[in-house]
Amino acid sequence: MADALKIGVAGLGTVGASLVRILQQRANALTVACGRPIRVTAVTARDATKDRGILMDGIAWYADPSEMAEKADIDVFVELIGGAEGAAERSVRAALTRGLHVVTANKALLSRHGVELAKIAEQKSRLLNYEAAVAGGIPVIKTLRESLTGNNFTRIYGIMNGTCNYILTRMEREGLSFADCLKEAQRLGYAEADPSFDIEGNDTAHKLSILTTLAFGCEISADKIYLEGITNISIEDIHAAADLGYRIKLLGVAQKTESGIEQRVHPTMVPLDSVIAQVDGVTNAVALESDILGELLMVGPGAGGNATASAVLGDITDIAKSRPGAQDVPVLGRPAHLLEPYRQAEMQSHEGGYFIRLTVQDRTGVFASIATRMAENAISLESIVQHSKEPAAPGRPQTIILVTHATMESAVRTAVGAIKGEGYLIGEPQVIRIERPKG
Ligand SMILES: NC(=O)c1ccc[n+]([C@@H]2O[C@H](COP(=O)([O-])OP(=O)(O)OC[C@H]3O[C@@H](n4cnc5c(N)ncnc54)[C@H](OP(=O)(O)O)[C@@H]3O)[C@@H](O)[C@H]2O)c1
Repeated sequence: MADALKIGVAGLGTVGASLVRILQQRANALTVACGRPIRVTAVTARDATKDRGILMDGIAWYADPSEMAEKADIDVFVELIGGAEGAAERSVRAALTRGLHVVTANKALLSRHGVELAKIAEQKSRLLNYEAAVAGGIPVIKTLRESLTGNNFTRIYGIMNGTCNYILTRMEREGLSFADCLKEAQRLGYAEADPSFDIEGNDTAHKLSILTTLAFGCEISADKIYLEGITNISIEDIHAAADLGYRIKLLGVAQKTESGIEQRVHPTMVPLDSVIAQVDGVTNAVALESDILGELLMVGPGAGGNATASAVLGDITDIAKSRPGAQDVPVLGRPAHLLEPYRQAEMQSHEGGYFIRLTVQDRTGVFASIATRMAENAISLESIVQHSKEPAAPGRPQTIILVTHATMESAVRTAVGAIKGEGYLIGEPQVIRIERPKG
């Protein structure tokens, strides 16, 4: 039998502790599957005294992740610390430079330094695997990187943040406000004490930037993603969406257009009868659309210790099964030096349907004025309805909902800007883009 594959695990939190427990509990089955034992020989975390439910026999403890990366007797460095900079970045760089294989679940690190780290891994002929970095337990990286090679992708999109999906699902089901659902998500441990990274869409953007590179062969460009979070979504929007046959989801979308690649993260209306509309709670989903395959939708657990550890484990067993030193698969789907510069499509040229909710003072001519502003910008309306529980009466605010046919973002912004200038709006208009699955 081949020698054991020696693993060093940096970070023993939710994911790291689950991973070490699974590696220890399933050691025999993994040896059979991989043809060699997989052994954890080194670990690091901040607190050496914490009981993490793992057996420490034969495992060296390191106080510093970089020192473990540089000195420990290991073949694979598993980074489960988190963060784009600091200990995670320094130790992954040190491990690759030393010539170790690296496995990480760290989307923040990859979205910031992925291309650079891929170049080091490729130069050293080592693997840098990161299945858990996007959509947790869903094997979307392997699918894009290996299974669908040769496909030309037209669009990829998905629900990639369980916290946001949980909040939107609860708002719709319970009729609760955004703030109440956020509190509930925090109480249940689905949302961080500081949830801004999730609810403002940054977490989805990191994941989307990685998928964009794999699908379209361009450099990672997380800072060029159009970003809108879910904090402005009200229960009125959710009810109006349902009445019109839609559900609101926070989607990350990357799409090939004539002017470049659109990358956008925003609340999105999806048809109620689509499969992605049925993806509830903390579950994730990723749809891949390509010329040869058509559409593939993958749904599953996007987070949690065991689900994420399952993806990390898959990455480790891939290394255990591979030829010694072989660099089987380019880290980012093609050799890093062959990635093309990211050609950004401007958001202004995005084309699609729009939901627009306006609260107006009820006075003569408002409907006609709105319709005129839309027509002036060549926006064709699928519907325009008064959507208020109270009957119209002079002086009483009324809600008007417009749904457009496919139109340009720039036209919608100009028309809404003109409507704002008319003086009859109460509060800010709500604009939500509509996304339709293929077929
Ligand atoms: N949790 C999920 O569901 C999930 C899903 C997908 C991806 N991920 C990714 O997986 C990674 C780990 O997430 P997690 O939820 O497991 O995080 P976590 O529970 O916060 O654990 C982080 C671990 O890193 C250790 N650590 C932090 N700074 C360190 C330092 N300077 N030196 C040594 N150790 C340090 C901590 O040590 P102490 O325990 O001693 O404090 C802790 O064990 C992140 O990149 C995250 O984005 C997580």
